[in-house]
Amino acid sequence: MSRYKVTVVGAGMVGGTLAQRLAERGYADVVLVDIVEGLPQGKALDIAEAAPVCGYDSAVIGSNGYEESAGSHVVVITSGVARKPGMSRDDLLKTNAGIVREVTEQVRRTSPDAILIVVSNPLDAMVTLAHRVSGFPKQRVVGMAGVLDTARYRTFIARELGVSVEDVHGFVLGGHGDQMVPLPRYTTVAGIPLAQLMAPERIEAIVERTRQGGGEIVSLLKTGSAYYAPSASVVAMVDAILLDKKRVLPCAALLEGEYGIDGIFVGVPCVLGAGGVERIIEVGLTEEERKALHASADAVRELWEATARA
Ligand SMILES: NC(=O)c1ccc[n+]([C@@H]2O[C@H](COP(=O)([O-])OP(=O)(O)OC[C@H]3O[C@@H](n4cnc5c(N)ncnc54)[C@H](O)[C@@H]3O)[C@@H](O)[C@H]2O)c1
Repeated sequence: MSRYKVTVVGAGMVGGTLAQRLAERGYADVVLVDIVEGLPQGKALDIAEAAPVCGYDSAVIGSNGYEESAGSHVVVITSGVARKPGMSRDDLLKTNAGIVREVTEQVRRTSPDAILIVVSNPLDAMVTLAHRVSGFPKQRVVGMAGVLDTARYRTFIARELGVSVEDVHGFVLGGHGDQMVPLPRYTTVAGIPLAQLMAPERIEAIVERTRQGGGEIVSLLKTGSAYYAPSASVVAMVDAILLDKKRVLPCAALLEGEYGIDGIFVGVPCVLGAGGVERIIEVGLTEEERKALHASADAVRELWEATARA
């Protein structure tokens, strides 16, 4: 059997790191696509030249077009620009919407059966746009944000308690913005409810730090945003899909009435397997949690409406 094919569009910090991590998994050939001449080719060759040392046989190809990517099983969209000084949020939205629209049209043409994972920001609006433009069934379009936000949340909890990150479980609901909704009530350490191990004010501080997690990295790096944890989070999703693991992961999925939300992509726990988003899990929420989720969904809807107008 030949290997799977995964295309990563955008050979920047997230895309390049993701191509490396995927090649190292060994189960898929990787096609890296970018508009910048030489960038995807250079990164792909560099990753391919690490293969004899690291011991993987995945082919890694860089391209400025989509022909090599044809027939991909999974396509990850990381292309976009970051906000520059003087650029308004609306300008950023307009630019990235144009990029995601154009990329999705190419993917629809060359890989019509792919599962599409969107990473570009503003995430929830860009994944909603990719769904509309692709015309793919909702199961085959998904956004990456919740795995990353949850990974940050788990890291902070594990550090605070001095326990393994592997034993901290939980998830974050809602949009990928500062109104996201980490759920301490559903957070456990090896099955022990978090509230039995941590004071409420420490939990609240960690929830707040999680909400600001992206900004914390930007203010340290100064010239870019996070890419190690984001690329690792995408790999968890690609693993779940290509290895049909049926993992329960928080992902941006199209809601059609679930959680009382309709017509937009919002982060919720999903069963991710060979069929893409195979199921959305609806958990019971308190009135306060429900209000917080709806406030986050309202912010996503506003962004989506601005995107649709752009
Ligand atoms: N969802 C998340 O949790 C999450 C996490 C991290 C980053 N992001 C987002 O991912 C995106 C990428 O981040 P990055 O740090 O890799 O940025 P980057 O600037 O390093 O890379 C973006 C790449 O996209 C390429 N590009 C632009 N237009 C293109 C087009 N039309 N076709 C193909 N490629 C094109 C650029 O040339 C560049 O190489 C950003 O929008 C960022 O905000 C999202």
